Amino acid sequence: MSGTSKVATVILVSGRGSNMAALIMAAAEADFPAAIVGVISDRPDAPGLAWARQRGIATFALSPKGIGKPAYEAALTGALREAGIEIIALAGYMRLLSPEFVDAWRGSILNIHPSLLPKYRGLDTHARAIAAGDAEAGCSVHLVTEELDAGEVLGQARVPILPGDTPETLAARVLAEEHRLYPQVLAEFAMR
Ligand code: GRF
Repeated sequence: MSGTSKVATVILVSGRGSNMAALIMAAAEADFPAAIVGVISDRPDAPGLAWARQRGIATFALSPKGIGKPAYEAALTGALREAGIEIIALAGYMRLLSPEFVDAWRGSILNIHPSLLPKYRGLDTHARAIAAGDAEAGCSVHLVTEELDAGEVLGQARVPILPGDTPETLAARVLAEEHRLYPQVLAEFAMR
């Protein structure tokens, strides 16, 4: 753990981990108010986990496979409590957390979602924004509640939807904003 006055934060990932990397790089700055003390993945083969490990961040893979969701979440909570975690930052974490888990960590779980919430909760956000003829898209960092992608929005960034955009080109434009927005919102949240 770096810096005793920093807010202890863990990142949960399932895949690529580009938002995780953005958070880790931002938190490496001396004046960043949160410390990334670990990265946990439900997939041992998540590329994000390897990236974090290579940079000396404590990593931990824990899957509900074989043990079931209640035991999985109990183990997760145990590990997080032991590490003194105050903020859980979901970054491309593809599992739904149970209402019990959300309740135990209420107000402490952040997520980044690739749409301008409350528009387009769930998956395929970019395709849905293009199909709707929207002029702009974006991303939101929000608090996690029992309802999918429905908690308080803490910050948003916007990008234009351009003629000829595909879900892939739009996703790339939004992702660049995600990488700026998430560290900024985490810093503000940690200073609350
Ligand atoms: C991002 O688009 C994020 O908004 C969504 O899942 C994607 C994760 O990408 N929740 P990455 O793993 O951070 O690269």
